[in-house]
Amino acid sequence: PTIYVITPTYTRLVQKAELTRLSQTLLHVRQLHWILVEDSPHKTVLVSEFLVHSGLTYTHLNVPTPRESKLQEGDPSWLKPRGAEQRNEGLRWLRETAGGQQGAQLEEGVVYFADDDNTYSLQLFEEMRGTQTVSVWPVGLVGGMRYEGPVVEQGRVVRFHTGWRPSRPFPLDMAGFAVSLRLVLANPDAHFDGNAPMGFLESSFLQGLVTMEELEPKADMCTKVLVWHTRTEKPKMKREDALQKQGLGSDPGMEV
Ligand code: UGA
Ligand code: MN
Repeated sequence: PTIYVITPTYTRLVQKAELTRLSQTLLHVRQLHWILVEDSPHKTVLVSEFLVHSGLTYTHLNVPTPRESKLQEGDPSWLKPRGAEQRNEGLRWLRETAGGQQGAQLEEGVVYFADDDNTYSLQLFEEMRGTQTVSVWPVGLVGGMRYEGPVVEQGRVVRFHTGWRPSRPFPLDMAGFAVSLRLVLANPDAHFDGNAPMGFLESSFLQGLVTMEELEPKADMCTKVLVWHTRTEKPKMKREDALQKQGLGSDPGMEV
């Protein structure tokens, strides 16, 4: 099966660095198709050029997050979900493409939602490739914990190890599951709810698709951490701003 990786991304200082790191991980994975979805009303030159030279098989999409759903300056980061519209656009493309000529070829697939800033072990992709319905595994450095993840007993997921609201239908991070393309196509209405309350974005998608009992535990029965919810520090631009005021700022034509 082909792994379809759906990644939301948005313009900021560290974007090219994040995309470089992620793409160079993905280059090591066979049979992978990257669906990169910009949170933007148009496809940017930076991302377009980046993809052309990436060496990956990819689809470049874009959709802006509606203004009322977007975090405003000063809002706490947990107020509104991020990347929901972009993941839905990736799902829309998969369903549309599967309905077209290449449809039959597409059905053998696995869908994974990979944020642009996390850290992914190559082993993770081989674990998820065998996904029949929905597979799950632990995620490191997330939710204010060393790791969060499913708890497996006798080969079945029986509950979730999480620091917060374990009663959520699926208290999993976005990086902690993959879905078979067949299941995505069989449930044409399954999508991420951009208005879901904090912590319920993953559940809004998974709820209609599976039950906890049906989850397929990977990564040695969920005993190994193969993906980390790393976050990149926002670079300080104090010197840049100061120099710019003197007309000595960095060359704006230099892509960073
Ligand atoms: C956590 C989860 O790991 C995310 O999967 C979830 O979407 C997010 O919370 C949430 O609350 O919605 P976190 O590290 O806080 O992740 O979120 P980011 O990494 O900042 O954003 C997730 C993805 O959305 C990234 O790929 C990012 O590039 C993208 N994004 C972020 C946008 O497309 N637009 C934005 O305005 C912000
Ligand atoms: Mn993140």
